[in-house]
Amino acid sequence: MNIVILAAGQGKRMRSDLPKVLHPLAGKPLLRHVIDCASSLAPQRLVVVHGHGGDAVRNAIDAALPGNDLGWALQSPQLGTGHAVMQAVDQLDDAAPTLVLYGDVPLTTRDTLLRLIDAAGPDRLALLTVVLDDPTGYGRIVRHEGRIVGVVEHKDADEPTRGIREVNTGILVAPTPALKRWLAGLSDDNAQKEYYLTDIVGMAVHDGIPVDSVQPGAVWETLGVNSKTQLAELERIHQRNVAERLLDDGVTLADPARIDVRGTLACGRDVSIDVNCVFEGEVSLGDGASIGANCVIRNASIGAGTQILPFTHIEDSTVGAGARIGPYSRLRPGNRLGDGTHVGNFVEMKNVQMDAGSKANHLAYLGDATVGRRVNIGAGTITCNYDGVNKHRTVIEDDAFIGSDSQLVAPVTVGRGATLGAGTTLTRDAPPERLTVSRARQLTVESWKRPQKAAKATK
Ligand code: UD1
Ligand code: CA
Repeated sequence: MNIVILAAGQGKRMRSDLPKVLHPLAGKPLLRHVIDCASSLAPQRLVVVHGHGGDAVRNAIDAALPGNDLGWALQSPQLGTGHAVMQAVDQLDDAAPTLVLYGDVPLTTRDTLLRLIDAAGPDRLALLTVVLDDPTGYGRIVRHEGRIVGVVEHKDADEPTRGIREVNTGILVAPTPALKRWLAGLSDDNAQKEYYLTDIVGMAVHDGIPVDSVQPGAVWETLGVNSKTQLAELERIHQRNVAERLLDDGVTLADPARIDVRGTLACGRDVSIDVNCVFEGEVSLGDGASIGANCVIRNASIGAGTQILPFTHIEDSTVGAGARIGPYSRLRPGNRLGDGTHVGNFVEMKNVQMDAGSKANHLAYLGDATVGRRVNIGAGTITCNYDGVNKHRTVIEDDAFIGSDSQLVAPVTVGRGATLGAGTTLTRDAPPERLTVSRARQLTVESWKRPQKAAKATK
């Protein structure tokens, strides 16, 4: 299989400096949705035709997919879909058919494409068509006695032809040597002065090559993005599809219309997710995990039975089983929290390893720290990990107790079973099993009197 993805169009109606095909859907550029689906078909050649924002498009894709073996073909100026495919033909292998996709049609499924490829076989032309209530703007599928005889663009169509509701989606499979021959014969003698790819359909009929059609599983598979409105509509369709898949897999969703997955979300059994949660990158939720309302979780693995309470942000971290995080916790990148850990409101953590059974229940900043088992970290504790130039590590050993409002000036170690008194500013290691406290001794000044206001003179 050869695959050509047309992505040279301008996308004026997006009203954006970003090339249209780089606008994200579910956190991923439109073009990458198409490339990923195309790649899943394991083509021997995959060529992207680019034009508008040319280098930006290529650079963005190369950065996201290092070492890819995409072929690129520049189309400048853009003289139509047929002209676009012409720019790619010398990269196509004659021994395999060619599938044409659009870079701004992101939701076509692999299953639909496999059916189209199957219908084309090695030597037929196959078009993906849909029947629309309002076919305005699309190329119409003209049939004679049931057989496709041509595609007529809306702008070139007469009234009876405009009445046809079966339209061309633009996605097709053609035998490659014939495709090359037909493209070489295209002209731009039409309403738009463009080289229409769709004119190859009439040429195939003329050459006696059978033309078949296949319909997608759903119309949204063929919808393209030309405006922010259409982008938003496709985003909702995609998210609804993701939510339906999660429900089918047995995940409880408080509201399938209020979850956004921008990446992959893998769930165990009996997972439940409350409203307005956003999952980004690769996230996995273990059996029985529950996610409270309004959480944002990115590249994280959450253990079985763990509760993530509302308004929690988690990024690039792993949380063990039976833990409780939130409400209002923030896990920045690099945390590994063990089983049964508790992290409470307004606790920020970055690059912390915290072993089983340890707790930081309220108001703390823990950065670059190694925390053992069963450690209790009091409210207001801060690891001073940064001296303005370098980051340093704080080590807190098993069963230590950190009194409230302590500052641990790293590098520093709190020994096993040690207790820090509240308000301690720790600048040297605290020995195991001892109370360490650094604060001015409390004293009471017996002779002190509050200043008195002078009595006002009265008349
Ligand atoms: C095309 C089809 C039409 C079909 C419709 C479906 C032709 C002549 N018409 O219409 O039958 O119903 O798609 O949406 O093929 N592109 C390029 N270079 C160009 C022109 C377009 O790369 O010079 C790309 C665009 O970026 C886009 C795709 O081709 O991804 C389709 O272009 P667009 O202008 O949206 O389609 P139409 O020509 O209107
Ligand atoms: Ca056009």
